Amino acid sequence: MRKKIIAGNWKMHLNKAEAIELVESVLVGSKDLDLDENKIVVFSPSFVYLDTIVSKIASLSNVFVAAQNCSEYEQGAYTGEVAAKMLQNVGVQFVIVGHSERRQYFNETNIVLHQKMKQAFVHKLQPIFCCGEPLEIRENQEHFLFIQQQLENCLFLLSEEELLQTVIAYEPIWAIGTGKTATPEQAQEVHHFIRKCIAENYNATIADQISILYGGSVNAQNAAQLFSQADIDGGLVGGASLKAQDFRTIILSI
Ligand code: PGA
Repeated sequence: MRKKIIAGNWKMHLNKAEAIELVESVLVGSKDLDLDENKIVVFSPSFVYLDTIVSKIASLSNVFVAAQNCSEYEQGAYTGEVAAKMLQNVGVQFVIVGHSERRQYFNETNIVLHQKMKQAFVHKLQPIFCCGEPLEIRENQEHFLFIQQQLENCLFLLSEEELLQTVIAYEPIWAIGTGKTATPEQAQEVHHFIRKCIAENYNATIADQISILYGGSVNAQNAAQLFSQADIDGGLVGGASLKAQDFRTIILSI
């Protein structure tokens, strides 16, 4: 059975007190959130608060912390970078790799993303690998080919064991931070396609075990419909993850 995952990507927002308060407010009465080993919550704060948030959730099961990025290098003279080894050392369990903002603004290529994922595996972190098409590609009906290439040039270079440790997030770029969500049908169509590609490149059993999250303007109103789709196993949530009540509603929608 594949896991249901709700991950909050806080991007470059919040100060330390706000970050702590957000986690506390989301998890207040955490029993009501009905989490178990197959339904988990992930918080992804900025690097500087990782340690603090890891401590905050330390006593809770089924709640984890993700970094938003990691270096493709093991260690060394790379000023400003954060190694996967360091993330593991402070108790982080997941790392987002290949978010469209990193691909776009920091020129992260598939080759670099593949190296980052390799670093993640060496240090026992689970990557949340993001893929998704820009608006022009969607308008030209080329999104399946575009996503297939993102998968083939990066994700499908992984071994079976590595892939099984990976979470995929489909995030159409035109839906990120824009308030324009993909319809549940549009999202399901792509998730189904991604699972089919995994089945073709690995096998159907593996494809069935990989959690594929949807990201792009998920909110408290649209989450339940998106999550009701057969191949949507949760969400990577940006803006709405910064509002405790909305994020709680999203967690409860799955
Ligand atoms: P959004 O961001 O929910 O604010 O659209 C999602 C993401 O970028 O992961």
